[in-house]
Amino acid sequence: MTPDLPDRPTDTRPFGLKHLFFAFLGLATLFVIYNNERFIVDHADPLWDYYKGVRGALVPHGIAGAVVLILGATQFSTRLRERHTRLHRVFGRCYLIGVAIAASVSIYITLAHNALPLQVAIFTQASLWVLASATAFYCVRRGNYVLHRQFMIRSYAITLIFVFDRLFDALPRVVALDTDVDPTILWLCNVLAWVAPTYIIAWPALARATGTASVASRV
Ligand code: HEM
Repeated sequence: MTPDLPDRPTDTRPFGLKHLFFAFLGLATLFVIYNNERFIVDHADPLWDYYKGVRGALVPHGIAGAVVLILGATQFSTRLRERHTRLHRVFGRCYLIGVAIAASVSIYITLAHNALPLQVAIFTQASLWVLASATAFYCVRRGNYVLHRQFMIRSYAITLIFVFDRLFDALPRVVALDTDVDPTILWLCNVLAWVAPTYIIAWPALARATGTASVASRV
């Protein structure tokens, strides 16, 4: 059985940077649904035909991905973790199952539907997603909550590639760099999804770094 989560200081700020980010994410996701996923209901959209051969696989992939996107956001709520720890655990398990389904189906889709350059980018994204999520699970089972949190941030950053890749594509001229044979933007997202969490995780220590150590203490 997983031990109880340790006490963490309650975030009493009514509206901080984290809330601002999730508010932006909500709006960005609505934009992506409207801009990129309309084909699900509008079958006159050329994307409906584009996905003809893999529509059956897109259903479990899209549903599992959406569950991960929504549940993942709730996992960063300090209130949910502190007051409803059991729910945090249930959501966490559903998140992991969602990642396992969405990632494995995405490998099938890309092998069936994409050219080799995009297949390599997708395979990298899916592998890092599974790796970060499985590591987060391993850490919490071992009772290491600090590392658990860090790897959940990494895992969720990869989940967010779904939104940010499509946001980049909405910029003029950029969409030409996100194709089957030139997935430059997806590679950019893969790199950012690993670099951004590094800075988010290090931020408290970076903010405290003052450089006041004497020469003697460094030798
Ligand atoms: C590591 C994470 C993910 C990988 C590797 C991945 C992979 C893929 C692949 C290979 C395709 C088909 C692309 C094509 O044929 O051109 C696709 C499409 C799709 N994915 Fe994912 N995906 C991921 C995360 C997500 C998430 C989190 C969601 C849901 C929120 C999602 C929802 C969709 C949807 C709705 C489509 C079809 C429409 C579209 O391409 O915009 N995916 N994904």
